[in-house]
Amino acid sequence: MLSVETWLNQILPSRPLPSAEMASAYAPSNIALCKYWGKRPSEFNLPLTSSLSISLAHKGTTTILSVIEAEEDLAVLNGEVVAKTHPFYRRVTGFLDFFRPRNYAFKIITDSQVPIAQGLASSASGFAALTLALDGLFGWQLPLKTLSMIARIGSGSACRSLWHGFVLWQAGSAEDGSDSFAEPLEASWPELRVGLLVHSHQAKAVSSREGMIHTQSTSPFFSAWPALVNADLASLEKSIADKNFTLLGSTAEANAEAMHALMQTARPALVYSTPETLRLKEAVWALRKTGLEIYFTQDAGPNLKLLFLRENTHHVVAAFPEVEIIDPFSL
Ligand code: PMV
Repeated sequence: MLSVETWLNQILPSRPLPSAEMASAYAPSNIALCKYWGKRPSEFNLPLTSSLSISLAHKGTTTILSVIEAEEDLAVLNGEVVAKTHPFYRRVTGFLDFFRPRNYAFKIITDSQVPIAQGLASSASGFAALTLALDGLFGWQLPLKTLSMIARIGSGSACRSLWHGFVLWQAGSAEDGSDSFAEPLEASWPELRVGLLVHSHQAKAVSSREGMIHTQSTSPFFSAWPALVNADLASLEKSIADKNFTLLGSTAEANAEAMHALMQTARPALVYSTPETLRLKEAVWALRKTGLEIYFTQDAGPNLKLLFLRENTHHVVAAFPEVEIIDPFSL
């Protein structure tokens, strides 16, 4: 069976050393409206189902990458040197091992506007920015579609962070993942808003990667997930084509709740929510009862992301004064 190394050797232009001294790249974070939760058994990090996201414009990660003559990589995250034992360091250097020139180490300076490991897709923007920086550093000049497949190996959802706007990640079926990449949807929806409600700054105890493998292998209800995803993807694509916000919001919220229900039925149960998460969900449902079109989505962490339209911004701010509002199509 093909290994990641062999596949990379096939697609990367053979330039063993960087063509630039350093390269800098930015990638936006993204929030899935239809979640990726489940893998095909493969070292290529392949998803079981397709997924669809919205990128968060200016909220993302900037990475400056260079090679240094040193024994070990040096990682600086938001101005602080990262310890070698830190999960961030291990994940980043593990990914960079695929591209490391002999006798060199990497220096990675990362500034993330997204809190790390709190279910706010920091790894998505992080690995997308790192992949773009690698492309710049080595002068590969690869198409975004190929970079999407490379980013996917670092973190699945990273393959969707190479574009702004709505992005669809096709699961594909090839064993080497050559048809498992993301692509932007043509559609633009300038009135759409995403609200970040960060009530917990605690790093999650179970990573998305571990959490999805555990859910997939132990929840007795997991077999229902692929069909549900297909139906939700069809509804979301229709909602975007028709600019039907009720359909978009209700589908995204139901899809996130279904994913968390699966986690809840894993053995042992996997729960990312805190009591405050539930209180905030109840607040959203209460607002909806008053006629306000507001929905939420939730990833592998306790913090909610709100979905609403520009015209309702003042109502949302009145109900959730701490909300950070993102205008995804503001670029
Ligand atoms: O790409 P990962 O391994 O960080 O997993 C992402 C999982 C979710 O955020 C919960 C869903 C998604 O599609 O982004």
